[in-house]
Amino acid sequence: ASNAMWGGRFAAGPDAIMEAINASIGFDKRLYAQDIRGSRAHAAMLAATGILTSSDAEAIREGLLTVLSEIEAGDFPFSTALEDIHMNVESRLKALIGEPAGRLHTARSRNDQVATDFRLWVRDQADAAIAAFDGLIRALLAQAEAGADWVMPGFTHLQTAQPVTWGHHMMAYVEMFARDQNRFADARKRMNESPLGAAALAGTGFAIDRHMTAEALGFDRPMANSLDAVSDRDFALEFLSAATIASVHLSRLAEELVIWSSAQFRFVAMSDKWSTGSSIMPQKRNPDAAELIRAKIGRIMGATVALFTVMKGLPLAYSKDMQEDKEQVFDAADNLMLALAAMTGMISDLTVNRAKLEAAASSGFSTATDLADWLVREAGLPFRDAHHVTGTLVAMAEAKGCDLPDLSLEEMRSVNPAIDERIFGVLGVHNSVASRQSYGGTAPDQVRAQIARWKERLA
Ligand code: ARG
Repeated sequence: ASNAMWGGRFAAGPDAIMEAINASIGFDKRLYAQDIRGSRAHAAMLAATGILTSSDAEAIREGLLTVLSEIEAGDFPFSTALEDIHMNVESRLKALIGEPAGRLHTARSRNDQVATDFRLWVRDQADAAIAAFDGLIRALLAQAEAGADWVMPGFTHLQTAQPVTWGHHMMAYVEMFARDQNRFADARKRMNESPLGAAALAGTGFAIDRHMTAEALGFDRPMANSLDAVSDRDFALEFLSAATIASVHLSRLAEELVIWSSAQFRFVAMSDKWSTGSSIMPQKRNPDAAELIRAKIGRIMGATVALFTVMKGLPLAYSKDMQEDKEQVFDAADNLMLALAAMTGMISDLTVNRAKLEAAASSGFSTATDLADWLVREAGLPFRDAHHVTGTLVAMAEAKGCDLPDLSLEEMRSVNPAIDERIFGVLGVHNSVASRQSYGGTAPDQVRAQIARWKERLA
């Protein structure tokens, strides 16, 4: 039999494989709440503009509420033959209320319908992501506050560079995740315009009120151009792009947790709740959640590349290619939310080994730059010469198998006689971090100022 929704000119129904490639109901059923919300707004507008009688509109409204509760109760007969969520809902509405159901699609097309539903869904996800970043930022702030003055090695090239504080390191991620959160907020602003009423592509001859439906659906305004409204998926691309950048940040933090929890570092310990064991090696505590978060970028960026590739080169207006947008965005959104929740849980439960951090900070000649800076400040050496003197002292300590503060004053003066006993004051890691008072630097005072600014912002 031909399709009940569009089969007027068709004598035969589709091939089974045609149905399989064409149908989206298997995944777009996730849009049911947005679809029903959009239809209710459309029907109310059709009644307000006199296009529908108020009794038809009332029947549609009640019918849609029944459909909603059927889907929510899990006893809705989803049908592949009906292709997608839009036609499944409308067909069920027809079965429930009869003739008025056929009037709902007046002055509307599935093209503006799906664009509206999907925008509403992505907007909800952007809101959920924004809230989830809040939780992660708070967890990082709590870690930063606890360890604003705990000294740890800062690395470049994963080689000991200069001492920093634990709080400083945590706050670096607060800044990154706050920018991520902002990217979602920014994308949300741009996506918050209503495609509804663009109809198939050209608008409609019915005297509809697009401002009314836009307002009912919480959009700031109707989209200004009906072709654009049904053609573009840049709102989904922006969401995916923001998710991709965020998952890069999540991946880097996850990588640090993997390294820091290894036996060779032991900077942190993941709680039992966030660790797994090995079925063969009884000693193991594996950071699986961190590893999986590290990996999520693969599928999230994959989804982003997939949708960019689908969209490029599509002529205006709607093409069925665009049905491939949803699974990518659903998968990316689900995995981003899972990664954010897992990272928030892990950070909140993290035990930090302060003594290990400090011991590591004190090894590897981490205060060599402080020594060189002292020679510049106190002995008037050009920085390049100070760098050379310090390098010679590092080589001397390395040969002796000790650290810089373990060299005697005589040994140091044999390399440069300008050095005096005040040098020992700058070789300690606490002095080192305390001296870095430049704005945004690692001095505990500066870190506490960063934390205070963030707490004020979040309050
Ligand atoms: N299932 C379709 C999608 O997800 C809905 C729009 C169909 N429109 C059309 N003209 N066939 O894109």
